[in-house]
Amino acid sequence: MLVAGNWKSNKSFNEAQEFANAFAKLTPPAEGVEVSIAPPAPYLAALGQEGVPFRLGAQNVSATGPGAQTGEFTADMLAGCGVQDVIVGHSERRDGHGDEDAAVAEKVDRVLESGLRVIFCCGESLQDRQSNVHFDKVLRQLESGILRLPAEDMSRVVVAYEPIWAIGTGLTATAEQAQEMHAAIRGWITEAFDADVSKSIPLLYGGSCKPANADELFACADVDGGLIGGAALNPEHFHALVEAAGRAQAKRMQAEAI
Ligand code: PGA
Repeated sequence: MLVAGNWKSNKSFNEAQEFANAFAKLTPPAEGVEVSIAPPAPYLAALGQEGVPFRLGAQNVSATGPGAQTGEFTADMLAGCGVQDVIVGHSERRDGHGDEDAAVAEKVDRVLESGLRVIFCCGESLQDRQSNVHFDKVLRQLESGILRLPAEDMSRVVVAYEPIWAIGTGLTATAEQAQEMHAAIRGWITEAFDADVSKSIPLLYGGSCKPANADELFACADVDGGLIGGAALNPEHFHALVEAAGRAQAKRMQAEAI
């Protein structure tokens, strides 16, 4: 299980450090649970140097390499700052910051070339779901983003399914809706690669995931954790999600042992 936090454009640098200190005092994640947080980019180098009690993530990356690209930062620069995970294709960047499918694919390639792990986001709008094209939409995003990759790169790919209508709205996909889409995603990855690759890819759910609904979502067979926005801003709330992932992981391990 993987619980990944996305702070978006929130928190001062001091607040980021306070979160890391508070989180370090809480019970460490259970066996088989990974924790990753993507703070605002200006804090990454310092947090990487100070050390944080979670994998360090970035919320964005340049689609290109080094050079005359004012304001951009490359995947190699992130790696040099201690970043391990990079969120690519978040809907807030797809809708409004020019991250069309082609740019998203470039970013995925840059992240993987730098040896980092990509957290690839996909998800449909409310209109897509109401017009019953949500599966087509997500499949198209996956095809241009990751299903084209060489199989050996897939060990550094995480997929986050985030229905846009559930992000920051308080509306959550039901466990059935999440499981249905996650099972479809797992199936498409199996078709493009094979069942072993598909089983090894963490599929995260994102969209108003919070302590009150995490147990139900994480209990779904194909939900391997969450990508958390609002509930990742408070160390206790985020920790409650990490604990929920621990409970789900324990049940999976028990089931495997039988
Ligand atoms: P939310 O955000 O948890 O605040 O809905 C999720 C996300 O954007 O990744």
